[in-house]
Amino acid sequence: MGESEIMGNLYQRFPVRVERGEGALVWDDKGRSYVDCMAGYGVALLGHANRGVADAVAAQMSRITTVHASLYSATREIFLERLTGLAPAGISRAFLCSSGSEAVEAAIKMARKATGRGRIVSMRGAYHGKTHGALSLTFNPKYKKAFGPMMEGVEFAPFGDAGALRDMVGDQTAMVIIEPVQGESGINVAPDGFLEEARGICDGAGALLAFDEIQAGLGRTGRMWACDHWGVAPDIMCLAKGLAGGVPMGAALTTEAVMSAMSKGEHSSTFGGNPLACAAGTETLSQIEGGLAGNAAAVGAGLMEGLREISARHPVVREVRGLGLMIGVELKFDVRGVLDDLIDDGVLMLYSGRNILRLLPPLVITHEQASKVLHSLDLALGAEEERRGIR
Ligand SMILES: Cc1ncc(COP(=O)(O)O)c(C=O)c1O
Repeated sequence: MGESEIMGNLYQRFPVRVERGEGALVWDDKGRSYVDCMAGYGVALLGHANRGVADAVAAQMSRITTVHASLYSATREIFLERLTGLAPAGISRAFLCSSGSEAVEAAIKMARKATGRGRIVSMRGAYHGKTHGALSLTFNPKYKKAFGPMMEGVEFAPFGDAGALRDMVGDQTAMVIIEPVQGESGINVAPDGFLEEARGICDGAGALLAFDEIQAGLGRTGRMWACDHWGVAPDIMCLAKGLAGGVPMGAALTTEAVMSAMSKGEHSSTFGGNPLACAAGTETLSQIEGGLAGNAAAVGAGLMEGLREISARHPVVREVRGLGLMIGVELKFDVRGVLDDLIDDGVLMLYSGRNILRLLPPLVITHEQASKVLHSLDLALGAEEERRGIR
């Protein structure tokens, strides 16, 4: 019996059996290489088989892998100091966990406890995960309809509309949660001014502002944090994906004021802050700080320019948008045929919904690898247009 039969039908799958990786490349079981613009849904920020992370994990593995947070660990302390040292202004506390959804769950509890309020405003198009609390803040009804009732007190504001947000935030609002760049709904970059206005609206109402930087954070958009593009700091920031170089890890960062509202035992995680993830995390942060965000900005700008050139000659493309190495290419039709052709030509890419191609390559991707992606996409879009008779 194969993987699919055992794991059920939960994932949209592609016919590639990945055996190994290096940098922005992966190889399948037949020895074919692919430029990996999936990167484990944005996890492989440092590239695959990263030497520094492998060494840090191996060294930690042979020392100790589990030290529960009820004991102390120097490895965890080093990581926590590094992480909070890099965080936006005012953020100095952290809860560690093992995934993005868990980081969002922690944010919900922190916000409700610290404000004593119950209501949460999320955004239309938002994706915050699929555990029940996080799912309640996720917009797409298709993920939720079979699993109700959802958590009470959640409303959705139109992404980017400060006027509508102002009308929805009041004295019962605990938190407004925003992805500065929405990922799953097709790479929607917050319009200029929106995060600043959200900050003001929350401050005016005594509500907390949370940024979900699980996909957009850690250098992905060309800056350490996506919110750095607008100079706005949140009260809570959710992280996960590449935080520990591929070792599962999540974090809900917050202010001293919010964290001090939480009491012993009100939240916890068995795996949260384990030394293995922390050792990998410290190495990951060092490498990102060491210039990877700059590479994301430079290669991302080239990729975006190339994609805009290509899209000008392909009527099947509706729009190209993004920031750094977080890029969406919206087509007029379902992208599955294009994704399959890209695989045949040695490129792995993601989709967002049915008609948007999504690129989240490792931040170490080279200009040459990006050129290969552009060339393959040009061919795949041409083939799609031929299939649809629009050439
Ligand atoms: C913005 C955002 N928030 C939350 C999540 C949920 O993370 P996880 O799948 O690790 O639970 C994701 C995952 O794609 C995400 O992109």
